[in-house]
Amino acid sequence: MIRSKIAGIGYYVPEKVVTNYDLMKVMDTSDEWIQERTGIVERRYAEKHKENTSILGVKAAEIAIERAGITNKEVDFIIFATLSPDYYFPGSGVLLQRQMGMQGIGALDIRNQCSGFIYALSIGDQFVKTGMYKNVLVVGAEMHSCGLDFTTRGRGVTVIFGDGAGAVVLQPSEDENRGILSTHLHADGDHAERLSYINPGSHGGVFLGKEKFGYPDQEFGGAFFTPHMYETEDIYPFMDGQHVFKFAVTKFPEVIHEALEANGYKASDIDMLIPHQANLRISQFVQQRLKLPDEKVWNNIQRYGNTTAASIPIALCEAWKAGKIKENDLVCLAAFGSGFTWGAALIRW
Ligand code: COA
Repeated sequence: MIRSKIAGIGYYVPEKVVTNYDLMKVMDTSDEWIQERTGIVERRYAEKHKENTSILGVKAAEIAIERAGITNKEVDFIIFATLSPDYYFPGSGVLLQRQMGMQGIGALDIRNQCSGFIYALSIGDQFVKTGMYKNVLVVGAEMHSCGLDFTTRGRGVTVIFGDGAGAVVLQPSEDENRGILSTHLHADGDHAERLSYINPGSHGGVFLGKEKFGYPDQEFGGAFFTPHMYETEDIYPFMDGQHVFKFAVTKFPEVIHEALEANGYKASDIDMLIPHQANLRISQFVQQRLKLPDEKVWNNIQRYGNTTAASIPIALCEAWKAGKIKENDLVCLAAFGSGFTWGAALIRW
């Protein structure tokens, strides 16, 4: 059987460092509160008017492509995961493609938030395994900083998120025992609004029990954006933090065990766990449940915050660059996030 392998990996984080103390200048929060609840010390914000989500993605993709030993022209499919796209439509995939001179090949956009990279990797894996494509570029990138509420009202969400991008190139593995062993994807839409950014959208308040929400007074049609949304400040992300926390600590271990069992392994076989960097407390809880020592779990949320679809490829690349992932190591990627969606990938490196 053909397996796919990660042939090249790269990441990019913007230069601008925003500390908890910087946020204290614009909202009522504290370094102590943020560190105690999330582990975050600082995050990066992209440069306004110069960088956007696809540009961050390009910077990570260029490194991944170079490390894979190919040129842009050899990429035959693009998968771009983000919840903070440049435009409402078209997606950031085609914008990355245009900047990288790869016009003509397919570009797919993935909207699975914190699980976006795992979903994207799984799709890329299927394309390579079936022999349809030989070089699939998978990108996770976010520019959260332009969509957050920087007043005290938004502090419960805003302090958590940061900007960044990561990318991998998937190729067929020459060794059938190495590469992506399996991927496992899940979702439960019952929790859709618990972590959401509902506008702009066609929802019209239907699921929220507000029938006329968002619709202007006209005979036909509605509007994705209305003055009502600005008036009620319904233009920012919403998170029911405790509800998210409760599910995350259950679903992370569950899907990791599912991936291990599918391949005949147990938790102690993992050489490196790369959890989506949702919150350091969640990662520590998962680590305890799996009884993994510190050196087998990579955390960088302290420096970057939660970069959603970018967090796994950034962390994976950092761990690899630091020499913590070696040939033949068993690497487990796992994510949980808005949707709710969750998933895992097991890789023999
Ligand atoms: N600074 C200071 N105080 C803050 C704050 C901030 N940034 N954000 C919220 N608070 C306040 C609240 O207003 C509340 O005050 P009150 O008691 O006077 O009403 C208090 O802190 C507790 O708020 P609560 O939301 O109950 O805090 P919490 O203990 O649940 O922690 C999270 C909040 C977001 C850190 C926590 O719920 C969490 O980590 N959830 C998971 C989030 C996550 O992982 N998201 C990504 C998913 S991929």
